[in-house]
Amino acid sequence: MTDPTTTDTIDPSLDLRAEILRLKRERNAILLCHYYQDEELQDLADELGDSLALARRAAQTDADVIVFCGVHFMAETAKILNPDKLVLLPDPKAGCSLSDRCPESDFRGFLARYDDPFVISYVNSSAAVKAMSDVICTSGNVLRIVERAPSDRTIVFAPDQHLGRFAAQKTGRELVLWPGSCEVHEIFSEKALVQLKCRHPEALVVAHPECQERVLRHADFIGSTQAMLAKIAAAPHEAFIVVTEPGVLHEMRKRAPGKRFFTVPNEAGCACNTCPHMRLNTLEKLYLCLRDRVPAIEMPPALRERAAKPLQRMLEWS
Ligand code: 13P
Ligand code: SF4
Repeated sequence: MTDPTTTDTIDPSLDLRAEILRLKRERNAILLCHYYQDEELQDLADELGDSLALARRAAQTDADVIVFCGVHFMAETAKILNPDKLVLLPDPKAGCSLSDRCPESDFRGFLARYDDPFVISYVNSSAAVKAMSDVICTSGNVLRIVERAPSDRTIVFAPDQHLGRFAAQKTGRELVLWPGSCEVHEIFSEKALVQLKCRHPEALVVAHPECQERVLRHADFIGSTQAMLAKIAAAPHEAFIVVTEPGVLHEMRKRAPGKRFFTVPNEAGCACNTCPHMRLNTLEKLYLCLRDRVPAIEMPPALRERAAKPLQRMLEWS
């Protein structure tokens, strides 16, 4: 079978942006895009958002086709919420270390160690893991969700140990953590962050809760992508040190024009710590998926129904 993402069949004379907009209208498609996508994709989006905003929008759209510029678990979430719609992901190999390192069978074994646990899964998980959960959360609603968990049951939180630890500290709830982590956020360098703070003492440090605790303890503000955007738009500071995937800087510069932003190097010394999975989507692959209506997200109906319940509960609880 031909690889649906091969760009060889694209006429080089085409204006891809114009073609994408034309096909979007023709197919009655909506383009949902995460802040970690390339800027040229962000600029074409009907909805640009973090995981929570995009899940909410996916739950509400009346478009016939959802094109998800993000990673697989995000498109899968859109499909769970819209079983009758065509959901397209420009590059189906766009995975996520959190989701990929929490396989269904291992997670089932982990849960079997506890007596009737209440399971909270981060949206960065597979449909199979969601189907084993009581409720889903994102970094944008994690505190509200954890606070509402029953107090008479063991609470298991998966798959991000750093987000789970942050939520446990903030809410005072005891959580059993699956030992997963985001390969992007866990490698920011504490030393480089401290050096940057010394060079720019005027800057406010904003960080995503997927980062390690030793990095988060140097942050002035910890929050989801949307929360960080709101914070920098409202803050009087002239400069910001941003400890998250740098794709978000595109929107930060729009919301706080004229201000200065510094990115933090990772352990390897690179200050452009981008998510390799998110960046698999390109303008060419977006055009191809609209043109050819593949790659489409599919899943067995029984799995979809089981995964839909905790997702719907998340939308109700937040
Ligand atoms: P949010 O979009 O919830 O901020 O999560 C960040 C992330 O890593 C998405 O994969
Ligand atoms: Fe997954 Fe991390 Fe990439 Fe988000 S940034 S998609 S959590 S690997």
